[in-house]
Amino acid sequence: MAIDPQFERSRDHTADHDGHAVWGPVEEPEVLGIHGTHVAVDFDACIADGACLEDCPVDVFDWVDTPGHPESERKADPARENQCIDCMLCVDVCPVDAIDVDPGRENRL
Ligand code: F3S
Ligand code: F3S
Ligand code: ZN
Repeated sequence: MAIDPQFERSRDHTADHDGHAVWGPVEEPEVLGIHGTHVAVDFDACIADGACLEDCPVDVFDWVDTPGHPESERKADPARENQCIDCMLCVDVCPVDAIDVDPGRENRL
């Protein structure tokens, strides 16, 4: 299922990871939530396609290993969401619409 762009309202900021917010629910290893706020990746939708890592011009994403997740065993983590220049390439190329970027949404940390 595609990421819910209204996640700030529909979810709670339940944890932090590597300098960005995690929006729950999280029940590892099967349910991982959404990582990031300005650049948000729904880990439960991501199938590790990798196009976002290849195409982002400012290298916002890193792989993180997620062994035991039903969709894929690694995810695109928005490790440098503060560097995003809102080009929207990642949103366009993700085959499962796992990413939402909103220029008006600030990193919560
Ligand atoms: Fe990169 Fe996506 Fe921002 S491609 S520049 S993280 S909109
Ligand atoms: Fe995952 Fe989509 Fe990137 S499937 S690795 S968020 S292109
Ligand atoms: Zn993360």
